[in-house]
Amino acid sequence: MHGITGGDWWRGATIYELYVQSFADGNGDGLGDLAGVRARLPYLATLGIDAIWFTPWYPSPKSDAGYDVADYRSIDPAFGTLADADALIADGHAHGIKTIIDIVPNHCSDRHPWFQAALAAAPGSAERARFWFRPGRGPGGDLPPNNWRSIFGGPAWTRVTEPDGTPGEWYLHLFAPQQPDFNWANPEVRAEFEAVLRFWFDRGVDGIRIDSAALLTKDPRLPDTGPDTGPSDQAPYTDRDDVHDIYRAWRAVAGQYPGRVLIGEVWLADAARLARYLSPDELHTVFNFPYLCCPWDAARLREVIDSTLAFHAVAGAPATWVLSNHDVDRHVSRYGRADTSFGLDRRDHSQPVDLELGTRRARAAALLTMALPGSVYLYQGEELGLWEVEDIADERRQDPIWYRTGGADPGRDGCRVPLPWAGVEPPFGFSPPGATAPPWLPQPKEWRELTVELQVGDPDSMLELYRAALRLRRAEPALGDGRLHWLPAPAGVLAFARGDLSCVANLSPAPVALPAHTAVLLASGPLDDDLLPPDNAVWLRTPDAETPSAQG
Ligand code: NOJ
Repeated sequence: MHGITGGDWWRGATIYELYVQSFADGNGDGLGDLAGVRARLPYLATLGIDAIWFTPWYPSPKSDAGYDVADYRSIDPAFGTLADADALIADGHAHGIKTIIDIVPNHCSDRHPWFQAALAAAPGSAERARFWFRPGRGPGGDLPPNNWRSIFGGPAWTRVTEPDGTPGEWYLHLFAPQQPDFNWANPEVRAEFEAVLRFWFDRGVDGIRIDSAALLTKDPRLPDTGPDTGPSDQAPYTDRDDVHDIYRAWRAVAGQYPGRVLIGEVWLADAARLARYLSPDELHTVFNFPYLCCPWDAARLREVIDSTLAFHAVAGAPATWVLSNHDVDRHVSRYGRADTSFGLDRRDHSQPVDLELGTRRARAAALLTMALPGSVYLYQGEELGLWEVEDIADERRQDPIWYRTGGADPGRDGCRVPLPWAGVEPPFGFSPPGATAPPWLPQPKEWRELTVELQVGDPDSMLELYRAALRLRRAEPALGDGRLHWLPAPAGVLAFARGDLSCVANLSPAPVALPAHTAVLLASGPLDDDLLPPDNAVWLRTPDAETPSAQG
């Protein structure tokens, strides 16, 4: 596929982010699980993906939906067992689908045995040295050791009660208090995660998605941050030079297992700094969040595409493209707002959403994205055209972001609502008949129009558009990893060739003429007399216009 074989399979892959608790519930407890995934593997195989990235499936109290890991070598009993995971990895392989798992190295759960041991041990002990414990400031140590803020809101420090009952030290948590940060200056922490990597590679997983990859190492002086106390590219806990030592060690581990891929979740706007993670002895790919955050604007998108391709070319790594994930507003809703840009620090659910417009643009965005060079990440449910659920009742919300900001930030529950599979009312086939609990987040009744059952076989559905696009992506040697050649196009229009296939996306307000072509391979919506209407995209068979020197 895409001329990519064996070891480098990931360079042009389509990777499906599977948010375990919201995909499919096999045992009827209202929470998705591995049995649910196993039963739906044929669905994913028919969709045409190459790999699944599973969000954390480990035992976890779920203070942050599984990103608070209590045991890195096991499966949450609510999801299944280690034997179920082994069977799922094997079944996936039998369906031609690889498995990527999420590793969360910046922090664990406060229930992790290491943190429990640290709480039981004394200040200055080896147990506490695996984390960031410090005395407080001010009289009686009542104030946190520094002014760092949690990325989820509130202070990044929580005070413990010592085993003798006295108020004690504080520990660092860049996220929720239930997620203590590991101290990566400690060799025990490094050795432990290298062993965890081996544990899963030995079980047959094909890749690792590294959570919060730029945050792991901290300035050991723990200095106060400047006037901007929020997370930034310069903060003393972000993107420090010494984080790269960790990934060199991980790459060496991965190198012992052919075909395994290391993927970094790195939220950095600076392309040069992002590219460092792609050094040949570090990570294979990183997520491309500037593309996700970019507004629906041709000039801005072209800038992001060009800069992405340029820095990846220098690094010799394939670009990655992603429109949605479990941390961001679903793109149908984003593209249906007046402001189509996105930022983690400004989730805004107060803007009206035009779902019809957002859906039209999402269809065009899917064709644009899947035609770009590199690998593509799909977030479960985008193939169904799901939108952000913005009206979840306060008492049903789960996300610590919502709680820790006192509701000022609506958080991420709205993109995590369980999938609608079939039927006309909740749980829409997410849970089996006779389920003992409703889905863990409520599904909107309007999703009866978006079930898999209803969309299969409907040529106008989002699902069939995704299936057709992924079928072509596999069949067309020019798609996936490779080169891109921009074509002349009017303002507001993106047009580029990939060999003998061209993609045209019209983000302008007027219909545009198509370049010379011999066939329309796929269109996001009906064409208007060979004109491409606004907010539509098309894949065309065109003469191969690329010259050996043309790129970008
Ligand atoms: C990034 C993950 O994608 C997000 O869901 C999580 O809350 C944070 N890292 C902390 O693990």
